[in-house]
Amino acid sequence: MSTSKSQIFIDTNRTIAPISPLLFGGFIEHMGRCVYEGIYDPKSPLADERGLRKDVLAALKDQAYTVMRYPGGNFLSGYNWLDGVGPKEKRPSRRELAWQSTETNQFGTNEFMDFCQAIDVAPMLGVNMGTGTIQAASDLVEYCNVDSGTYWSDLRASHGYRQPHNVRYWCVGNEMDGPWQIGHLDAAAYGNKALEAAKMMKWQDPSIKTVLCGSSNDQMPTYPDWDRTALEIAWEHMDYHSMHYYAGNRDNDTASYLASALGFESFVDTLDGTLRYVKAKRRSKHDVYLSWDEWQVWYKGDPMQGDWAEAPHLAEEIYNLEDALVVAQWLNVFLRKSHVLKIACVAQIVNVISWMHTRSDGLLKFPSYYAFKLVSNYAKGDALDVTVKAPYVPTKTYGDVPALDVSASYDAETQQGAIFVVNRSLTDTVTTELVWQDGQEVCLDQAWQLSGSDPKEANSWEEPNRLVAHAIPVPQMENGRSTLSLPPLSFTVLTTRTA
Ligand code: AHR
Repeated sequence: MSTSKSQIFIDTNRTIAPISPLLFGGFIEHMGRCVYEGIYDPKSPLADERGLRKDVLAALKDQAYTVMRYPGGNFLSGYNWLDGVGPKEKRPSRRELAWQSTETNQFGTNEFMDFCQAIDVAPMLGVNMGTGTIQAASDLVEYCNVDSGTYWSDLRASHGYRQPHNVRYWCVGNEMDGPWQIGHLDAAAYGNKALEAAKMMKWQDPSIKTVLCGSSNDQMPTYPDWDRTALEIAWEHMDYHSMHYYAGNRDNDTASYLASALGFESFVDTLDGTLRYVKAKRRSKHDVYLSWDEWQVWYKGDPMQGDWAEAPHLAEEIYNLEDALVVAQWLNVFLRKSHVLKIACVAQIVNVISWMHTRSDGLLKFPSYYAFKLVSNYAKGDALDVTVKAPYVPTKTYGDVPALDVSASYDAETQQGAIFVVNRSLTDTVTTELVWQDGQEVCLDQAWQLSGSDPKEANSWEEPNRLVAHAIPVPQMENGRSTLSLPPLSFTVLTTRTA
């Protein structure tokens, strides 16, 4: 690592944009044990009267989620939402083709709404653009959002839900650019179908917000043309454009993996440019923002096909310290890109590619659980444009990168702020000066740190608290300056108060 002096400059006047609360969202798919044995397990002694696992609900609340995307994912593209409503004993068991599992449909749209209410999050529903029709998409909006007096709204009431669900966020399909998707379409065919679906859906309820499928990741051969083409067609009918990405340390090159933020930022920058281009080309006054509605680390090779079992163990990744530091950087990127990124959903919230695993007798949390919890609870108000000077660390993939990855927030109403710092160096402590430039009297209030000496270190059922975020002594701040000592492989969160 180069040895130059490190400084972090913060000025509460230097804002990027308000932080959208919807950046702290989650994703639930009918895949593996996310729904069954994850959030819904009516036979478990840990379940409440609705069959929802109480320990999982408590952890999700602790993580302060704001929005929840459902029911898929690849599952969505073969799903008939009618299978999942009405009396449970009449719901069909079906072969689910995306994950080659058996879907019992005991959990569906209404159970999902109960779940959202239980943890106080906004629901975000997907409509099937694979095998599904634009009519079925429109019907689901009517079923969920129309008060009463029509076929679909009365059907909902007859299912025990008199009040409309008022679902505001709607994903128009899932990963339709992917050849693996049931009913995959090319960009123009998808753009046209999505436009017609969104038109009908918005005629049902003009207050809804729609999300267009973007590229499944930035390595797709059709990226970013897919995005441009679909956006050019459907622009005026869409409010968000989705991005998906799963990170991984596939080559066991931890230095490069710990610089993943650079890749995340460039993905956002390209799509930000695409949005501006399409808006200009269409001479439009309408804006479309980004919804990063699937993001997570996923590469460790667990099975992904269920052999037609009910709730098979699929993609139950074990997350370690390096994964948590990548998650922390991802959240930093969300703040730094908050001018264009307005929704983000971690995929998924329990068991499947998740930092939380259930067993019949308990719940295990991996280190990235704590990184998300700290940012979702403390990043409020405006994202700040932080200037960082830090020594460089060499990486194969990104060249020399600063050892520190930083974001910060400040809420002018409460006069509280937060600073989020990853030290991505594998070996070196970085001593940095924190410089508060706006002339206000500021003090550091609370401080936490997640750190370890081995990037592969993880929690286990035997040692569940090996890596958690600890409260650390709060550094002193005098005349707007403080010195922080940031250990290698660490994520530090500091909250601030101005007088
Ligand atoms: O989250 C798991 C899968 O990853 C989703 O079903 C799909 O959208 C993505 O490829």
